[in-house]
Amino acid sequence: MMEIARFSDELIEQVKAAVDIVEVVGRRVELRPTGKNYVGLCPFHSEKTPSFTVSPEKQFFHCFGCQKGGNVINFVMETENLSFPEAVTKLAEEKGIKVPTISSQDQRREEERERLRQINQMAARYYYRNLRLPQGAQARECLQKRGITEQLARDFYLGLSFEEWDGLANFLQAQGFDLELAQAAGLVTTGKRGYVDRFRGRLMFPICDHLGRFVGFGGRLLGEGQPKYLNTGQTAVFNKSYVLYGLNWSKDEIKAQDQVIIVEGYTDLISLFAVGQRNVAASLGTAFTSAHARLLKRFCSRAVIAFDGDAAGQRAAWRGIEVLHKFGLQVRVAELASGQDPDTFARTQGAQGVRAWLHRAKPFREYQIDRIISQHDVETREGKLTASTELVTLLAQLTSAVERDEYTRYAAERLGVSEQSLAAEVSNKLGIGRVSRVQTRRNLKGAPRRRVLRPPMEVGEELREREVLRYLLQEPERLAEVKARGVTASDFLHADYRHVYVSLSQNIPDQRGTAIASRLLSLPAPAASWEDCFRSFLAVLRKRRLRKIEEKLSLLENDRKGLDVRMELYQLLKEYYGIYREDSY
Ligand code: CTP
Ligand code: MN
Repeated sequence: MMEIARFSDELIEQVKAAVDIVEVVGRRVELRPTGKNYVGLCPFHSEKTPSFTVSPEKQFFHCFGCQKGGNVINFVMETENLSFPEAVTKLAEEKGIKVPTISSQDQRREEERERLRQINQMAARYYYRNLRLPQGAQARECLQKRGITEQLARDFYLGLSFEEWDGLANFLQAQGFDLELAQAAGLVTTGKRGYVDRFRGRLMFPICDHLGRFVGFGGRLLGEGQPKYLNTGQTAVFNKSYVLYGLNWSKDEIKAQDQVIIVEGYTDLISLFAVGQRNVAASLGTAFTSAHARLLKRFCSRAVIAFDGDAAGQRAAWRGIEVLHKFGLQVRVAELASGQDPDTFARTQGAQGVRAWLHRAKPFREYQIDRIISQHDVETREGKLTASTELVTLLAQLTSAVERDEYTRYAAERLGVSEQSLAAEVSNKLGIGRVSRVQTRRNLKGAPRRRVLRPPMEVGEELREREVLRYLLQEPERLAEVKARGVTASDFLHADYRHVYVSLSQNIPDQRGTAIASRLLSLPAPAASWEDCFRSFLAVLRKRRLRKIEEKLSLLENDRKGLDVRMELYQLLKEYYGIYREDSY
């Protein structure tokens, strides 16, 4: 909220008045005039006939196909993945409008941060040049051996720090920079000899934030030795727990695919880019944090964790799963053999190998079950028992009954025990199942709390979509009922499911649809009845619609002036309460 407060209503009005929505939209969408308005193909959903309208008079855009609409700031936020303040700043800068900050203290801090980014950028330039000098020959050879071509090295601004004490310090000074600033940026440290370079004899990977501003470096030792990597320490613009390497290059592709591949290292990301996999971000070897998840959530709803095959990588993957899942991302895990990382895999297996490997990524629950089993020798009775205890703990955490059933079946099969006995243990742990309702109520008085019946479980949204589709595949006559409730392809979040729904409802089978359908049909049948599945699915849709409107409303909060805004607010509220009041089916 602090940041938003920097923008007075006057400033926002001034920016909106200075820019022309037709011109800004026109950079992304081919518009043609019709009457008072302009129309074009909507950039927010795919369509063949234009339903996307821009009104120069009202300075508004609206799509009759997907119902997206708003002013020029909303458009820039959406298409460029910017927050409200970022979008305002961008448009203001384009028009030469100075963006004031509320307090001069805030302003000084931001100016200081900007200076830190500038000196980082200057350092990146220095390292970049070094790598291309004759003295950089050995480093260039090193890159070549690792399969990093000249072009890739340029794309990622790779550089080199020489084995000398003060190469960078001297350069920066000659450029008129204060070395105190260089120290604040983590580029030099003070020693007995005065200022000395922090990075020496290392291949340099400049690290940018998601807006492409230079905030730090990772330095890989050219030879063997310790530490292999040295990164910028914490500064006012660099914090490993917030930055994801490569996001500035990959965010558009991540958004387009609605999916991010998360890797651990710089080289993993670069090698995946080299084989055309461009929706990647790297967590820099540190633990994947909530801040990382929150940042990624701005760009996509699905993540594939692709960490190193060693034990450390797999432990990190487990933590990553938990964080990403908590933030509502759909998580899968692409596994590698021990000793492999995405970098070596991409270089040896090429584009096709990578695609197949990512396609094989497991839903994270399956991964967790497999991992628990692989960590114990389940051939021995003892190993089997420990594994089963861990599995029961995991399964009992699943809040959806349907999901729990499905994975209990899977785990039992993998472990080589009967489904009933594993299910009984899970129920036991949850305090449900054999305890009858009457008993439970009687227990309420004195019995331990865990015996209390849990409230109805919430079910994963993807599962809801899958259940409905699975029914439809087997009993297509139910399609009429589904259509009658206004369900369209866009109500399925999963691209595969959307595809199947379209080919089902238009009765045009194709290869992809058939493949997905047979995969769906090979899954265990839903445990619940059609009526239950469909009702839950509709409930999910309703929740999603409400959420969407809530998002739009919160955008408008930043935008308190003008009649058009008030009109839109009114429309949204009406829609919201309309959906809200509808029967919960
Ligand atoms: N890392 C780090 N500090 C270290 C080791 C690793 O910051 N001392 C981070 C780096 O971002 C590195 C990532 O963790 O890219 C993964 O580490 P690792 O797998 O050891 O490195 P690779 O990228 O595989 O490097 P290389 O192939 O050059 O050995
Ligand atoms: Mn690695």
